[in-house]
Amino acid sequence: AQVASSLQHACEPASFSDDDCADIDWNHLGFSLTPTDYMYIMKCSNNENFLQGQLCRYGNIELSPSAGVLNYGQGLFEGTKAYRREDGGLFLFRPDQNAIRMQIGAERMCMPSPSVEHFINAVKETALANKRWIPPPGKGSLYIRPLLIGSGPILGLAPAPESTFLVYASPVGNYFKEGTAPLNLYVEDEIHRASRGGAGGIKSITNYAPVLKAIRRAKDRGFSDVLYLDAVKKKNIEEVSSCNIFVIKGNVIATPITTGTILEGVTRKSIMDIATDLGYQVEERTIPVDELVDADEVFCTGTAVGIAAVGSITHNGNRIEYKMHPDLASKKLYNRYVGIQSGKFEDKRGWVVQI
Ligand code: COI
Repeated sequence: AQVASSLQHACEPASFSDDDCADIDWNHLGFSLTPTDYMYIMKCSNNENFLQGQLCRYGNIELSPSAGVLNYGQGLFEGTKAYRREDGGLFLFRPDQNAIRMQIGAERMCMPSPSVEHFINAVKETALANKRWIPPPGKGSLYIRPLLIGSGPILGLAPAPESTFLVYASPVGNYFKEGTAPLNLYVEDEIHRASRGGAGGIKSITNYAPVLKAIRRAKDRGFSDVLYLDAVKKKNIEEVSSCNIFVIKGNVIATPITTGTILEGVTRKSIMDIATDLGYQVEERTIPVDELVDADEVFCTGTAVGIAAVGSITHNGNRIEYKMHPDLASKKLYNRYVGIQSGKFEDKRGWVVQI
């Protein structure tokens, strides 16, 4: 695969000025789509080598009605963010992890995938081409959405003969309409997100539409999102529709172990490392839903969601409430996580990538 050459510069601005950003109201960004200027597209015919990718104006794409992605859901997506520091510097957070996850997903979905280097360059190019849409420091971030889809026409059930890698972006603020207020989760035991042997461990587009009904039902009842149980025993917690979950008791921070049904979130992994640095004992294990009653604290992690404290979880008609206080472990983890991103804390693992 050839790497597109339009990535022209690594910018090191000395300071940030309001004129660097698009003229929109940056104070009320939610997680809704704001169309930006450019997207990146690269195609791979016969599932062999990707042709040179390029930036083009953001807009609709043309697909055959028989494209693999439209008929059989052959598609993956990723999510990563670009953000602006106080000094004007522009950064990404661990984009290599998204690239690797896309490669794993592509293998599972019988698609070719871009190399890690190519993926990162495409993400950088998209961020730089849309840099006026990277919010002012502290106002949010540019959510970057890489897609890999079976774009070629296919009638019988088989891998599409052409794949397309596409990256677009939108400025975003808080994922939940609650803003930074604690989440109220609803435990679903009828609808499952994924089962063993399925595609729950990769970021397949097919993992998401099947939970829309559960999300809608929960939101209609005033909940923020849904917490799913394992599909076999209906006894252990797995993940939330849009994010991973952590449970804290004393000095122990536990998160459900990934056995192919749970997405290995980049934020999840980062928080496990940060928690270890901060002296917590971190456990990846099976977590029975019954354990939620005794937990001191519960929080969610995800690229879109960030790190969000959970205020309540409702299961079988019982509402468990968690006390909010200034000493929450999730707050400490959040401070360290955003501190590494902003440059306040040392980035000792090389997670932060300047663009
Ligand atoms: C992300 O956190 O990037 C995701 O892909 C979750 C999605 C439901 C918005």
